[in-house]
Amino acid sequence: MAERSRGVGGLVDRAMSRRACRTPIFGPVKLSVIGCGYLGAVHAASMAELGHEVVGVDVDVDRVERLSRGEPPFYEPGFAELLRRGVDEGRLRFTTDMGDVAGARVHFVGVGTPQRESGYAADLSHLDAAMTSLLAVMADHPVPGALVVGKSTVPVGTAARLQEWCGSEGVAATVVWNPEFLREGFAVQDTLTPDRVVYGLPEDRAAGEAARDLLDEVYAGVLSHGMPRLVTNYQTAELVKVAANSFLATKISFINAIAELCEATGADVTRLAEALGHDERIGPKFLRAGVGFGGGCLPKDIRAFMARAGELGVDQALTFLREVDAINQRRRQHAVAMAERHFGGSVRDRRVAILGAAFKPDSDDLRDSPALYVATRLVGQGADVVVTDPIALPGLHARYPHIQTAPNARAACVDAELVMLLTEWTDFTGLEPDQLGSVVKERAIIDGRNALDPARWEAAGWSYRGMGRASTTW
Ligand code: UDX
Repeated sequence: MAERSRGVGGLVDRAMSRRACRTPIFGPVKLSVIGCGYLGAVHAASMAELGHEVVGVDVDVDRVERLSRGEPPFYEPGFAELLRRGVDEGRLRFTTDMGDVAGARVHFVGVGTPQRESGYAADLSHLDAAMTSLLAVMADHPVPGALVVGKSTVPVGTAARLQEWCGSEGVAATVVWNPEFLREGFAVQDTLTPDRVVYGLPEDRAAGEAARDLLDEVYAGVLSHGMPRLVTNYQTAELVKVAANSFLATKISFINAIAELCEATGADVTRLAEALGHDERIGPKFLRAGVGFGGGCLPKDIRAFMARAGELGVDQALTFLREVDAINQRRRQHAVAMAERHFGGSVRDRRVAILGAAFKPDSDDLRDSPALYVATRLVGQGADVVVTDPIALPGLHARYPHIQTAPNARAACVDAELVMLLTEWTDFTGLEPDQLGSVVKERAIIDGRNALDPARWEAAGWSYRGMGRASTTW
């Protein structure tokens, strides 16, 4: 709950970022960040905040123009002020021209590695395209001791391939793998004060030590907070990222599988998770049952991990992730089935208000969003659906213009016969059952995130259904 209830204003500890910036242990380093999507743009702004001279490169002209004006192309608490400060103070600029990275000592690569259209494996075409143009610039403008630092989530073996590629192009650069663990909604905080930093270094000891020392210089303001800095080989660093995401996905699917058992038996998954979480070996985080995980990382990363295991001949090691994925898909399907059941079988022409479109709160990201899945399914079955979300509506309009939207929960719920809470924004979890009850046609709510207090809603005359939650006194 603590993670969920943090308000937008509290997300960025400005003092923290200021402290990080004011640690002039070394001078500024000239660096580039290639790929200015979610990861790269936040990384570039954070590196500028640390005092470095940063150029961000992206192939998307519109994105580069917006970033250059200091306008965030996506919603991320605290990012706008960092971006503006870096741009205004002249430490941060953006370009579409790879030639502008000439002379940088460190090149961070943070391009997207989405799921391939055919199959589960990661699509490395953006990474390979970026490397092709980067290596051409590095060959023409050699910088002694330059680093290529991979931050994208990649199949194990990629760093070694890129190091070989540098050699074959005659570029004397050292490749380092430095995975990024940032969460959307906490991206600035996770970049400036991560809970660990991992350097995957090459076999060549001298090159590895030089790379480690230069990265320590770059991250001096981050490392001064005292978090662990782990040095590993390439393979370990690459695997840490996918292993971490697989573990988190497994934890969520575990509790969602238990939610299915709770539904079959009358147990309550939220009380059960609370009891489990008190065991320090298990811990309370990532045990929130609901409509499951989505976003641009967890779903595609577990699939890419399975695909890579298959290529390596160890697919059996990860067959459990198939089940993790299947449980996750079942939960969103279950939410659709709950709506159908509520209406006695068919949702056709029934008015359903959906609270939430983004895959999680404090984000406008619609990628693989369970909320969006439920909305599009119900629309497809002829329901009269109205969706609201505090910030994801522009993206929803652009991609799904046929889905009706409303500017807020109250407007979305007018005449609703069923309300479904699918993204636990505080705007929604703080709703007053009585006030909302005055606009709906029927006081019925499905809480797809188990984020509401059933007793409060039931006391106000609502029929409440959570995911794996019992309606008992205890
Ligand atoms: C994740 C990892 O947390 C991060 O370390 C990695 O770098 C990128 O992928 P993110 O995609 O931003 O980050 O989202 P996260 O906070 O992990 O949530 C993922 C999904 O799981 C969301 O849809 C969220 O609603 C869901 N979730 C999370 C649950 O359903 N239950 C939980 O208990 C926790």
